[in-house]
Amino acid sequence: MIEGRDLGAVGPRLKYGLIGGGAGSFIAAVHRAGIDMTRAADLVAGCFSRDAGKNKAAGRNLGVADDRVYSSCAEMAAKESAREDGVDFVVIATPNDTHYAMSKAFLEQGINVSCDKPLCLEVEEALDLEHTARAKDLLFMVTYVYTGYPLVRHARELVQKGALGDIRVVMAEYAQDWLADRLEDDKEVWRTDPKQAGVSCCVGDIGTHVENMVHFVTGLEIDRVSATLSTFVKGRALDDNALVTVRYKGGAVGNYWPSQVAIGRENGLAFRIYGTEGALEWRQENPNEMRYVKKGHPPMTLTRAGNDLGPAAARWTRMPSGHPEGLFAAWANIYEAFCNTIKNKAQGKPQDELEIFPTAYDGARGVKFVHDCVKSSGLDSVWVDGSAPAL
Ligand SMILES: NC(=O)c1ccc[n+]([C@@H]2O[C@H](COP(=O)([O-])OP(=O)(O)OC[C@H]3O[C@@H](n4cnc5c(N)ncnc54)[C@H](O)[C@@H]3O)[C@@H](O)[C@H]2O)c1
Repeated sequence: MIEGRDLGAVGPRLKYGLIGGGAGSFIAAVHRAGIDMTRAADLVAGCFSRDAGKNKAAGRNLGVADDRVYSSCAEMAAKESAREDGVDFVVIATPNDTHYAMSKAFLEQGINVSCDKPLCLEVEEALDLEHTARAKDLLFMVTYVYTGYPLVRHARELVQKGALGDIRVVMAEYAQDWLADRLEDDKEVWRTDPKQAGVSCCVGDIGTHVENMVHFVTGLEIDRVSATLSTFVKGRALDDNALVTVRYKGGAVGNYWPSQVAIGRENGLAFRIYGTEGALEWRQENPNEMRYVKKGHPPMTLTRAGNDLGPAAARWTRMPSGHPEGLFAAWANIYEAFCNTIKNKAQGKPQDELEIFPTAYDGARGVKFVHDCVKSSGLDSVWVDGSAPAL
């Protein structure tokens, strides 16, 4: 049994800036809530909206001084890096097409970056960010947040310990229904606009989470993919459903199903993994439980903070067993790992092996996965190379 703890990051608080998060936006507030839960960093600067009025209003609402509310990322990066008390990292929570130039502007000015997924529109851009971060000796997190759940980390630990034996089959999905109808007639939906979303809506927006989750838990490397992308809603410019068959290096096979037209599904990210010695099943909508079967034994339900969990889950558990933890805690977990790593690095200490977070290279894998799926689908679902991008 794992005791609940008030984790909270150690040491003095960092300072961060936020891009996006103006009135009416979605995910920036969730980033902030996760960071607040860790008490690892304070929001001190931002560029919250392209609209000057909304930008200023958001800054005031969030308690950011007027002189640290900037009209562009380029201005913010230059001015913050010139300050003694400038930001230690920046959070980028704007539509996909903006990620590359914004991330690059901050890296160039020596500022660590946490950017949302998909990392950017092109593989070359993603790799450039990875290379630039390395060259500048900076940290870069891509917020594949679902890897922050304790039971997901336990699943990874079980696979690494060989509890499943050799993995044979992966079934993973991310099913939603919010694009089942044509919303675009009534409001701006940037996710279905190729200029802002990139070459894919469904695979880019949620298929990347599936790709990342499976790689995080299993370590499997994709060899080839065959994909069928569909646009079920008439007049929509990008895909709203995808069926992707995957062959991994080493012989395992998988199926990924990201969908935004699956009536009745809300945020159904889930995986089932079958190996020679056992199987695992986890669903994001009930993240405090995981089904584990050891070959020849009845199924077990593992619970977050329950019996038989190892250090990977224990490190990231905040509440005692039976008290549900959810998405905000998962955000806190990846941010706590990121912030602690920034602090340790400043003191010349190595990254703690349990304090892991998704990197720019993980982001580049996702961007390549999107392009591989689009390419395969455009060629009548032929098998195409699906391997990770060369660094
Ligand atoms: N990790 C996750 O689980 C997760 C979940 C949701 C969204 N996302 C990602 O987060 C990003 C944002 O998604 P969202 O749903 O919050 O979008 P949103 O449309 O709700 O919010 C985007 C915000 O960015 C602002 N913005 C746009 N361009 C800007 C610019 N040049 N400068 C400053 N602000 C600008 C907009 O005004 C808006 O406030 C996307 O890349 C999306 O894929 C990730």
